[in-house]
Amino acid sequence: MAASISDTLLAWYDTHARDLPWRARPGAPPTDPYRVWLSEVMLQQTTVAAVKPYFQAFTERWPTVEDLAAAPEEDVMAAWAGLGYYSRARNLVKASRAVAAMGGFPSSEKELRDLPGLGAYTAAAVAAIAFGQRAVVVDANVERVVSRLFAIEEPLPSSRKVIRERTDEITPELRAGDFAQAMMDLGATICTSRDPKCLLCPLSVSCEGRKNGDPARYPVKAPK
Ligand code: ADE
Repeated sequence: MAASISDTLLAWYDTHARDLPWRARPGAPPTDPYRVWLSEVMLQQTTVAAVKPYFQAFTERWPTVEDLAAAPEEDVMAAWAGLGYYSRARNLVKASRAVAAMGGFPSSEKELRDLPGLGAYTAAAVAAIAFGQRAVVVDANVERVVSRLFAIEEPLPSSRKVIRERTDEITPELRAGDFAQAMMDLGATICTSRDPKCLLCPLSVSCEGRKNGDPARYPVKAPK
């Protein structure tokens, strides 16, 4: 059962993955940890559409983590202007300098977690997407998809623990990074917050929320 959810989702991702600039670059490995990290930091509180031009501008101006580490902080802050949450940019500079001093990105979730600004989500995402490690990646999209798949009745935020356990159960040993990005793409394009398009969903046959008749009810939120 668990294998079939990830297999089905990965097969869907192979034909439906969104074409996003940080996922591949002609002539470079698609898993450059610098590009994965930069995109994940930018995407934390910002939409894909808003991030794209900033990602392009940053990677043209600072193609490697060493280039970013050598940049004056004020240049990075100025280039970040408009993205908001400026602590992200300050941490970006700090982390780039730490990584450059280490001679490159560490590949384990635990060591990534020690870098400035890398929380549980970002460390797991970089470990899985850039380094192919099996890490459990949970963002708001994943929370919604998993809440629906398993019809989790416990409200957010106390359901986070069980959501994480369920995500862990369905995360494959291989291709954990593709699996995470597939969950995000599914959440962004099909299993959307208000209007889930279950007829297009590759996981609809396994979805308990759909069986219950009202998948949009999940994730249940605690009454205010
Ligand atoms: N949102 C945050 N990270 C993402 C990724 N790697 N792919 C798609 N959406 C995302």
